[in-house]
Amino acid sequence: MLACNSANKLSFNRFISNGDLVIIYERHDNMKPVMVSESSVLQNRFGVFKHSDWIGKPFGSKVFSNKGGFVYLLAPTPELWTLVLSHRTQILYIADISFVIMYLEIVPGCLVMESGTGSGSLTTSLARAVAPAGHVYTFDFHEERAASAREDFERIGLSSLINVNVRDIQDEGFPDEFASLADAVFLDLPQPWLAIPSAAKMLKQDGTLCSFSPCIEQVQRSCETLQTSFTDIRTFEVLLRTYEIREERMEGFSGEGNVANGSLPCKRRQRSDGSNVLSSSSSSVSTVMARPNGEARGHTGYLTFARLKCLS
Ligand SMILES: C[S@@+](CC[C@H](N)C(=O)[O-])C[C@H]1O[C@@H](n2cnc3c(N)ncnc32)[C@H](O)[C@@H]1O
Repeated sequence: MLACNSANKLSFNRFISNGDLVIIYERHDNMKPVMVSESSVLQNRFGVFKHSDWIGKPFGSKVFSNKGGFVYLLAPTPELWTLVLSHRTQILYIADISFVIMYLEIVPGCLVMESGTGSGSLTTSLARAVAPAGHVYTFDFHEERAASAREDFERIGLSSLINVNVRDIQDEGFPDEFASLADAVFLDLPQPWLAIPSAAKMLKQDGTLCSFSPCIEQVQRSCETLQTSFTDIRTFEVLLRTYEIREERMEGFSGEGNVANGSLPCKRRQRSDGSNVLSSSSSSVSTVMARPNGEARGHTGYLTFARLKCLS
């Protein structure tokens, strides 16, 4: 997934091997993870695909079934993994994840601590952000969940960057051995204010903390606690608006413009439902429609960020 070669260098030039996890991509809303096994086949509505045909092909390849149907074999990047992983808990999605990585200032080499691990959706992105020399220590008090996350990280090739630990972080706090070592701490816990004093102890001077909470009451309590040791406390709600882009033919369309030079002038028109139409002037034209997706995810939670106060 991270395409680290044996010299620990990031490389995007990877070929599929027996035992790799690939994302079978049919459409952006139809993907699934599959472990490549030489003797297995994938069967879907497009026909039968032999895994042995995939081995040695680069990630991203288009492969064909016995009936001529096709799928794409994509590398399990954190972005795709978040969309296909098995939901054992609520998870963080790409909009929140991107914001967290940026605002926590996570770069290669960072040491990041996280609780709870949940389904590991955020953890995979944290791991890629700190790779190849950094590390993520993630804690969950639920043993089975921690074990499943550990298995997932192994399957997608991230286990060397992540330690999964079983611990009640609200009750016991983070382990003292990490005191003043963390560049960043991330909390996704029901009562984060109980873990904040320990998180403060884990952070290096100037380190950053983020707490994700679905309810504003949790944010208020967390902010009260944060004031003791943190500064620059800010809360955000990340709202994402996605668009469906579709090509449509419009018959009898009479647009303005000069087509004499052979190039169709394009105009952007806004329709009453909020969608945009890129149209060219002709009586029957192909147009590209951009319509806000009605099923876009709304509120997920609040992200509260804070920076450890410098004592000197
Ligand atoms: C919403 S999930 C985290 C989801 C995760 N951020 C993701 O993106 O997949 C919250 C997790 O916190 C864990 N948890 C709740 N209370 C805890 C505690 N006191 N100590 C450690 N983990 C805890 C739960 O077991 C659960 O797995």
